[in-house]
Amino acid sequence: MTGPAIDLRIHHKPAGVSDTVAFGFVKALRFCADTFFAKRYGHRAVVLETVAAVPGMVGATLNHLKCLRRMESDKGWIKTLMDEAENERMHLMTFIEVAKPTLFERFVVVAAQWVFYLFFFGLYLVSSKTAHRVVGYFEEEAVISYTHYLAEIDEGRSENVAAPQIALDYWNLPANATLRDVVEVVRADEAHHRDVNHSFANELAGMPTGAIAPCPPHVVLEPNWKTAA
Ligand SMILES: [Fe+2]
Ligand SMILES: [Fe+2]
Repeated sequence: MTGPAIDLRIHHKPAGVSDTVAFGFVKALRFCADTFFAKRYGHRAVVLETVAAVPGMVGATLNHLKCLRRMESDKGWIKTLMDEAENERMHLMTFIEVAKPTLFERFVVVAAQWVFYLFFFGLYLVSSKTAHRVVGYFEEEAVISYTHYLAEIDEGRSENVAAPQIALDYWNLPANATLRDVVEVVRADEAHHRDVNHSFANELAGMPTGAIAPCPPHVVLEPNWKTAA
């Protein structure tokens, strides 16, 4: 077992209209994803990680602008959200080594980015609480999907290939690590994002924030000038 132990059953019970809308929206998207990808977990991971990496950057941008306008502290939210976006992008860069998207999937990625970026930006402006709740529910679904992916590997339907080099480097995995190890550590990342976003939504709703699953250790991506220096 590679990733830290995580609680797979965590689910925020929708409380109020905003949570119910967020939950219904995520469940509708889950139905679409299940219909489109079925059991093609590698392809599913590639396409959905291109979407998963969007909210953190939107939230970081809008919190940055808000803090500038109000001339107040961000209480660590901006960097937390930027880290989430970067971590999701590294999931994408990892899974692209495992499954190559079809031409149609690449088209879906481009179209989905237009729609989802604008939608999420608008949602965050109208209700940042609902936006973080949506991400919390997305991440609950991601934990479920990666648990299914682990079962596919364990039952021999997906080949447990060697882990890509980028994953070994990013999560400091041993040289003999496999796809299974990678999926485990990615799932632990998703559990961390799940709890962070539900906590942010709770804080905005004036509710207790709750426990946060630990983030599996990974290297810090350094700015270009550091590697060039
Ligand atoms: Fe992810
Ligand atoms: Fe995620």
